[in-house]
Amino acid sequence: MKAACYSKYGPPEVLYVKEAEKPVLQKNEILIKIRATAVNSGDCRLRKADPFAIRFVFGLTKPKINILGSVFSGEVENVGEQVKRFSIGDQVFGHTDMHFGAYAEYIAVPETGSLAIKPENISHNEAAAIPFGAVTALHFIKKAIIKPGQKVLVVGASGAVGSAAVQLARSFGADVTGVCSTANIALVKSIGANKVIDYTKEDFSQNGEVYDLIFDTVNAVSVTRTLKSLSREGLLVLSAAGMWKMLQGIWFSSTSKKRVLTGLIRHTSEDIVFLKELIETDKFKPVVDSIYSLEQIAEAHAYVEKGHKKGNVVIAI
Ligand SMILES: NC(=O)c1ccc[n+]([C@@H]2O[C@H](COP(=O)([O-])OP(=O)(O)OC[C@H]3O[C@@H](n4cnc5c(N)ncnc54)[C@H](OP(=O)(O)O)[C@@H]3O)[C@@H](O)[C@H]2O)c1
Repeated sequence: MKAACYSKYGPPEVLYVKEAEKPVLQKNEILIKIRATAVNSGDCRLRKADPFAIRFVFGLTKPKINILGSVFSGEVENVGEQVKRFSIGDQVFGHTDMHFGAYAEYIAVPETGSLAIKPENISHNEAAAIPFGAVTALHFIKKAIIKPGQKVLVVGASGAVGSAAVQLARSFGADVTGVCSTANIALVKSIGANKVIDYTKEDFSQNGEVYDLIFDTVNAVSVTRTLKSLSREGLLVLSAAGMWKMLQGIWFSSTSKKRVLTGLIRHTSEDIVFLKELIETDKFKPVVDSIYSLEQIAEAHAYVEKGHKKGNVVIAI
């Protein structure tokens, strides 16, 4: 099969397309012919081993996993003998978690993994744009337990995680304000934000508004200044926090009624099924910035790495 690989850490040019072994199906796995995947901020971090600590898990001197890509949408081509949830011909989408391997024509995944039948009302390209941002946003929003009418502020509302956070918070009945640049105001309104703050013109922490949940998806806020914009028992989510902000979060959560939530996400097949239902009831729309081919993988990585994409960058296979 054709796959986009890398055998050393580095810039986008370390990625190359080659013929790779088609995965061998285990008894509990399904073999998926991938129609689309996506390039995410997480793939870029792994490609260049940033932060350095990535090397302790994924290979000290060179990557142990040679095919990146953590999301997929495609068709079930074969099923292992123990598989009960899926059949040959099913159209599925999902997230491989830390196993990667989706920059390829085929992937084998356990049937119990984070996947579900693809919603019929979206294409494979659109379905591949869902899981990365949506499972990240969902992980934190489930912990926030949003009540209808609560005020939620999403920083980075035009990104993969942010555009998902806006839509998920709205689906739970929140009054959502999205923070984005001038060029992305229309997009953020189109996905349901009740209000938009253009961060190039206004600092949300200075406008006197108070929110029940502030969700920083792009590591853009100062923790101390942002806590002043939180309600008395409000929650600050820092999904892209580095070590220093994580420590600040632990300190502030233990010394005040306001809470700070950081950390790595977890997800299950129930999360993907939940997202499928939101998509089928038009409560969640895929946000696709652009579509590249597998041969253009280095170009797609170079673009994603700039940090300005709108939603998701899809690779059509
Ligand atoms: N905790 C976890 O387990 C976990 C899981 C997944 C991802 N993450 C992290 O989440 C982060 C973001 O991911 P992503 O894929 O959503 O990023 P992304 O899609 O690249 O989003 C960046 C978006 O944010 C906007 N932006 C940039 N600076 C901004 C600012 N100061 N205020 C408001 N908006 C701003 C950009 O547009 P403009 O430049 O035009 O404003 C762009 O649309 C990554 O650092 C990733 O590592 C964490």
